[in-house]
Amino acid sequence: MTPRREIPFARPWITDEDRRAVARVLEGPILAHGPEGKAFEAEFAAFLGDGAHCVSVSSCMAALHLAYVHLGIGPGNEVIVPALTHVATAHAVEWVGARPVFADCDPATGNLTADRIERCVTPRTRAISVVHFAGIPCTMPAIVDLARDRGLAVVEDCALAVGARYDGRHVGLFGDAGCFSFYPVKHLTTGEGGMFVSRHAGAAEKVARLRAFGVDRSHSERKIPGMYDVPSLGLNYRMAEIPAALGRSQLARAPEILARREKNFRRLQEGLAGLPGVCVLDAVDPRARSSFYCLSVLLDSTDPGRRDGVVSALAAAGIGTSVYYPKPVPRMRYYRDRYGYDEGAFPVAARIADRSVALPVGPHLAEEDIAYMIETLRKELEARS
Ligand SMILES: Cc1ncc(COP(=O)(O)O)c(C=O)c1O
Repeated sequence: MTPRREIPFARPWITDEDRRAVARVLEGPILAHGPEGKAFEAEFAAFLGDGAHCVSVSSCMAALHLAYVHLGIGPGNEVIVPALTHVATAHAVEWVGARPVFADCDPATGNLTADRIERCVTPRTRAISVVHFAGIPCTMPAIVDLARDRGLAVVEDCALAVGARYDGRHVGLFGDAGCFSFYPVKHLTTGEGGMFVSRHAGAAEKVARLRAFGVDRSHSERKIPGMYDVPSLGLNYRMAEIPAALGRSQLARAPEILARREKNFRRLQEGLAGLPGVCVLDAVDPRARSSFYCLSVLLDSTDPGRRDGVVSALAAAGIGTSVYYPKPVPRMRYYRDRYGYDEGAFPVAARIADRSVALPVGPHLAEEDIAYMIETLRKELEARS
């Protein structure tokens, strides 16, 4: 019998260099508004390429909120949002007083498509919010064309998509705004943190002021310390120097992190190929390059308890899993109570939420972990097929 292993779904990869980067900040006098934040923004922009402009913020949700404030979206407006996403994607729309209109997703990738979006456009629609589901890029050219034809803004939620590209362009740079997350389970972590990105320098400048109370000049721009004016309303969504230093140190390892994730994903995918009653969500478009956030296995069982049974069996064997996402957002209580929920409305999102299991592919996995996951899942599926 194979000895039991303990495999968490995610474990932040923190190196001695990361620790030294944080310690250097603590040894100095600047904990906020300093050089680390600025350098992280410049280095993330260089990583994305294509003339990106970046604004570091306190979370992906903060970046999404700032995107809608910046775009002037508010009461009376609708934003098309995937039903299959984290609530943050929809909450950001709610916080500006607009209405999220949920759209169902593609069964192979979990992503919105231009066709599905088009069916949801009304005279009140102002923006499309896309999520690159589990790091699989949406087909952005078709979505951007649709948005241009209809005069709509595009906000890309790239929380799981560091490293994801379409036609070589990094996601987040197709639309009007891209929003990244550096939460601990993500590709790069700053503890909590995020990045607002845009190809438009003006958008980044405006968002940089909005995230810092709406003041007209940052610390480094003030001739007389402490003197500034406030021409607009703002928020405090800044990233401090300690997380920025950690983010820079992590970003320096991005190529290795991405290569390890891809290798783990492919090995796991090969090992699961041909197992009864499952398929793996993956990029199906050869122009799309995934960020390989996790490997979502979709069970084709009609038994509603089957997925939870598989999760429990894996947990009993020491294998950590997650679910992306626990319910379609319109089925979450807040949204159900507010907008009503039609049971049959989002069948694909519901199927993925109810019948998928997300397996780890992060850089913390050893070769043996992958073989163990394949063997454990195979036994579990074959036993019940
Ligand atoms: C698609 C998506 N958007 C937004 C978020 C929220 O990110 P943050 O915790 O950085 O606000 C998440 C978190 O996992 C996510 O999956």
